[in-house]
Amino acid sequence: MPKIAHLYFKSAVIFFLAGIIVGLKMAISGNHDVIPAHAHINLLGWVSCAIIGAYFAFCPAKAEKRLAMLQFGLYVTSVAMISIALYLMGVGYPQIEPLAAFGSILTLVAALMFAFIVFSPDTAPASSLGLGSRATP
Ligand code: HEM
Ligand code: HEM
Repeated sequence: MPKIAHLYFKSAVIFFLAGIIVGLKMAISGNHDVIPAHAHINLLGWVSCAIIGAYFAFCPAKAEKRLAMLQFGLYVTSVAMISIALYLMGVGYPQIEPLAAFGSILTLVAALMFAFIVFSPDTAPASSLGLGSRATP
């Protein structure tokens, strides 16, 4: 599996654990003020990181692009920003909202980068596609 797919799955698992802990905190305390943090840690973090990671595992040629690593760094950082900001807003710090807004804009940029990677042509060398093994006469 390409390195970036591993990195995405490792990030996904960290968001998964954080999302579950926040969910349990809500369930145990009976205070559901952090629903937005819980929902977005799980959906932007756990679920979306796993889906993007799976894409790179299925398309290793796309995983080799430098843009992919840049996209990973931006996506994970921005989702972490949103997660922390939404959590703090939920527990009574509304003044942190600009961080959530900035993180959301960065997430959009990272999503556009992912869209660009998905729609860009496959530049894998012929050999890695199993097309280059025929001996030349
Ligand atoms: C042990 C793990 C989990 C616990 C204890 C938990 C707990 C909760 C609680 C207490 C709520 C608030 C419900 C309400 O007030 O209406 C909630 C909402 C939510 N949870 Fe979880 N959750 C868990 C895992 C997950 C996972 C893994 C996901 C997604 C993959 C998820 C997605 C959501 C979403 C999207 C909402 C918001 C639903 C809405 O807007 O009505 N949760 N969860
Ligand atoms: C940067 C991207 C995103 C932004 C700025 C955003 C923003 C929001 C906002 C403003 C709400 C309403 C929260 C409230 O009423 O308190 C919301 C709710 C929700 N969003 Fe997102 N969202 C984003 C991405 C996503 C994605 C990718 C998913 C699913 C894969 C998702 C799933 C949900 C769900 C299930 C809810 C209802 C749970 C809740 O009340 O928090 N969102 N989102």
